[in-house]
Amino acid sequence: MWWSPRLALLSALVLATARGAASDPCPRICLCDNVRRHVACRWQNLTQVPDSVPQVTRRLNLQGNALKVIPREAFAPLPYLTHLDLQHCQVEHLEEGAFRGLGRLLHLNLASNHLAVLLQEALDGLGSLRQLVLERNRLEEIRPGAFGQLGSLGALSLAHNALVYLPDMAFQGLVRARWLRLSHNAINVLAPEALGGLPGLRRLSLDHNELQALPGEALSRPGGLARLDLSHNPLTYVGEEDGLALPALRGLALARMALQEVGAAAFARCPRLRSLDLGGNQLAALPPLEGLARLRRLNLTGNPLRCTCAARPLQEWARRARLRLDATCAGPRRLRGEALPALRAADLRCPAEEDDYDDDDEGGSPRAPRPSRAPGPCPQACSCSAATGHSSCEGRGLEAVPRGFPDGTRLLDLRRNRLGSVAAGAFRGLGRLVSLHLQHCRVATVEAGALAGLAQLVYLYLSDNRLSSLSAAALRGAPRLGYLYLDGNRFARVPAAALAPLPGLFALHLQHNLLRRLTSGDLAWAGRLRRLYLSGNQVSRVAVDALGPARELESLRLDGNRLRAVPTAALRRLPALGELDLAGNPLRALADGAFGPSAGSLRHLYLNATGLERISPRAFSGLELSLRSLYLDRNRLRALPALEGFTRLELVSLSDNPFHCDCRLLPLHRWLAGLNLQVGATCQSPPSARGQRVKTAVAIFESCSGGGGRKVKRTLPPRRGARTLRLRTKPTKVGKGKP
Ligand SMILES: *[C@@H]1O[C@H](CO)[C@@H](O)[C@H](O)[C@H]1NC(C)=O
Ligand SMILES: *[C@@H]1O[C@H](CO)[C@@H](O)[C@H](O)[C@H]1NC(C)=O
Ligand SMILES: *[C@@H]1O[C@H](CO)[C@@H](O)[C@H](O)[C@H]1NC(C)=O
Repeated sequence: MWWSPRLALLSALVLATARGAASDPCPRICLCDNVRRHVACRWQNLTQVPDSVPQVTRRLNLQGNALKVIPREAFAPLPYLTHLDLQHCQVEHLEEGAFRGLGRLLHLNLASNHLAVLLQEALDGLGSLRQLVLERNRLEEIRPGAFGQLGSLGALSLAHNALVYLPDMAFQGLVRARWLRLSHNAINVLAPEALGGLPGLRRLSLDHNELQALPGEALSRPGGLARLDLSHNPLTYVGEEDGLALPALRGLALARMALQEVGAAAFARCPRLRSLDLGGNQLAALPPLEGLARLRRLNLTGNPLRCTCAARPLQEWARRARLRLDATCAGPRRLRGEALPALRAADLRCPAEEDDYDDDDEGGSPRAPRPSRAPGPCPQACSCSAATGHSSCEGRGLEAVPRGFPDGTRLLDLRRNRLGSVAAGAFRGLGRLVSLHLQHCRVATVEAGALAGLAQLVYLYLSDNRLSSLSAAALRGAPRLGYLYLDGNRFARVPAAALAPLPGLFALHLQHNLLRRLTSGDLAWAGRLRRLYLSGNQVSRVAVDALGPARELESLRLDGNRLRAVPTAALRRLPALGELDLAGNPLRALADGAFGPSAGSLRHLYLNATGLERISPRAFSGLELSLRSLYLDRNRLRALPALEGFTRLELVSLSDNPFHCDCRLLPLHRWLAGLNLQVGATCQSPPSARGQRVKTAVAIFESCSGGGGRKVKRTLPPRRGARTLRLRTKPTKVGKGKP
């Protein structure tokens, strides 16, 4: 545009001066356009909002000042503002009600400041706001409710912050939001309901984050989503089991990830998809994709495609579906650089038919990244890809961590070697490493300072080694570590001292070790821990105060241990606990109030294969409004109290119990009869009832006193017709997919 804003301001200033607009004072250091009511006070090192800005001002530009704090009602004297620009103002803190009084504000730009938290009340009073820009701040977390007052907001940008985790209902209240930009953060987890409460969302940008698995469940929440960008995340695999289901999705970008495989049905539940970008990945092949009748464009540029007979189905599919397919062959040598769609089917020969079959670039396991063509540093036994930042030396018999990986390495795979120990400074120079794989390396010691310099490390896999302890300094140097895998080792105690330098640890895997008890202090470091995996140990005791410090714990897996009772007292003070797995412990009985302390949060409870014979009538009391799934299968239950009032139950598993179907079981029968759930409860005795379903065995219960006619009808719970049957859902797993 020829009419630059700056020019506009200057000429308006001249105009204003010429008219001698004494009635519209202008602060000395600002430029005022009294016609359009714009005021700009840019790059003036102001420490507060100048107080003589005309009250009628519509746009105020304060970019480049030193406000630091926005006090309560700082703009209350300017009620007509529609645009407020506070970029580069060194803002660290927004006081409660900072923008109160700005009921007409449409655009608020807070980019390039120093905000680390957003308090719930900070954005009060902005009921008309359409666009909020919070880019390039230091936000590490979003608290549910932070945007609760912004009912008119259409676009929110949180790009270039330090977000790692998005909790359930993070964006609640943004009922009109159409575009959410979360690019360039370090997000590695989305809670299942993280995108709940965003009914209008059409576009979501999650590119340049640290997702290692597709959070299909969370991404499927905004049902109207039309465009989704997940490019530049370190994903290696996408498949149907990731559960992406977006009926309105038209454009999906999965470019420049680290994809090595895409399942044929991965997008089968995105039937309107028109454009799919898989460019710049590590795909050597792609099967025809199912269920994509409307797909028009498929980008496979920059993948190491093998144009052999294995590529024929892809080519045929593209032709039949009239896809615009961008794909260039990387091999065999004879076809290198050719466009796949232009080749004849006869060109796509099977390796055995190949006369000049070149083996040079297809060695190694299919999962190993392909070596980069461009010459660059890479240790001899390894392969390094500059494009994806992946380096692998899997299964090379190495006895020490080699040197000389590219600086930009983000994923380093050293599994299945013979390291024995990890030396101090072993990864020096790898400051950009995000994911480190050291599984099956016979590691018995991790020296102090082994992780020194790994400032960006998020995932550390030390599974299936020989560790029985870790010194206090063993894990120092990786302050952003979020996921630590120590499963399949020989720990008899939680290595609490070693975990203390990891303030952001999100998930700890300690399953299949030799733990016998959890004692006070074991989780003293665990303030941010959300998932704790202790399955398959020998835990028989949990001290009353052992779990207390893990206040944000959401999932606790204690299955396959030796607990003889539910550790009721230890569960107190776990206000976020949503999933508790006690399956496979010898519990035998459940007393009244066994889960009382976690009431209100517990949603998934596993008590299968616990030898349960007896469940007290109020064993589950307190969980009425929270419990969604309850696993009681493979026990010795002959009877079970009815669970009246558990209004949220979606799954109850009662199979493989020897239910005794006499009149004492009437309440259970009635309760089940009123539920639209399949529970698998079967009568084992008396012999006459054997094999019948407790739920449907009407004949058995008809004769019970109180079982006949009217009385039953009166006490029968209302049918919950709206509740649909849900078969066993997959338990939430971290690091799902192929690491
Ligand atoms: C603002 O402060 C910086 C650094 O102290 C200084 O260089 C600059 O000249 C100041 N600008 C104004 C307009 O005072
Ligand atoms: C296809 O992918 C390549 C590699 O990522 C990229 O450079 C190109 O812009 C993409 N083409 C389209 C049309 O998106
Ligand atoms: C308990 O049930 C879950 C869900 O069906 C299953 O994955 C798990 O293996 C079972 N645990 C035991 C110890 O049987």
